[in-house]
Amino acid sequence: MSVQIKTAEDIAGMRVAGRLASELLDYLTPHVQPGITTGDIDKLAHDYMVDVQHTVPATLNYQPPGHTPYPASLCTSVNHVVCHGIPGDRKLKAGDIVNVDVTVIKDGYHGDSSRMFCVGAPSIQAKRLCEVTYEAMWKGIRVVRPGAQLGDIGHVIQKHAEGHGYAIVREFCGHGIGRNFHEEPQVLHYGRPGTGLKLQAGMIFTIEPMVNAGRPGIRCLADGWTIVTADHSLSAQWEHTVLVTPDGYEILTQSAGTPPPPPA
Ligand code: MF3
Ligand code: CO
Ligand code: CO
Repeated sequence: MSVQIKTAEDIAGMRVAGRLASELLDYLTPHVQPGITTGDIDKLAHDYMVDVQHTVPATLNYQPPGHTPYPASLCTSVNHVVCHGIPGDRKLKAGDIVNVDVTVIKDGYHGDSSRMFCVGAPSIQAKRLCEVTYEAMWKGIRVVRPGAQLGDIGHVIQKHAEGHGYAIVREFCGHGIGRNFHEEPQVLHYGRPGTGLKLQAGMIFTIEPMVNAGRPGIRCLADGWTIVTADHSLSAQWEHTVLVTPDGYEILTQSAGTPPPPPA
């Protein structure tokens, strides 16, 4: 299956799913405090999705080829965990940084978004990593318009992260999304300008750079899911689901609590 151009009906469905993913993050935000466990956050999210939103947690039992079913309703990736952290008994403590990544399904459509949270007061270094990663995601988003190329997006993200002495994780990328959780195209967070797929209005994909404070290398833990930095350096990630519009982009994963865009 090649890259889909979404219909008006698909776009309407994706706007709803995207807003709900963002509202779920808004709901979780005040709970991300010292003392809560990542498992508690998972339970809050699961119940909010099922009982309040009437959405389906896309990650629960999600099983891509070669994987065991993912056991939770969201991912919580703390400090040196890059992505796909499995919620559990770990208590968040002041100074931690955590990525909360949620994907909801509403009427068959997926909304996928993640944010970084600083628990208590972060170190200057941790705060800066989260900010630079947020700026990098936004630099990528601002490139999106018909005729731009995927390499243009990857390039600006890579340049921003590496310009601050950080490293882009290469093994994971953004992805097309719609009735499928992960579909074409792959949206790399590094690359060369003027290369790759040309964007067209009606495409929907995520931009979700993972940025390491140290080296780019990663390892997967024995649980088969949790990805950590090989050098144990801190890692950050932000994610939006984005529609290519006739004159630019529309971020689908927005709600009242969405953090404001950084200065251009
Ligand atoms: N939400 C992640 C993404 O942005 C995927 C998580 S899959 C899981 O693509 F199985 F690890 F939950
Ligand atoms: Co995603
Ligand atoms: Co996600």
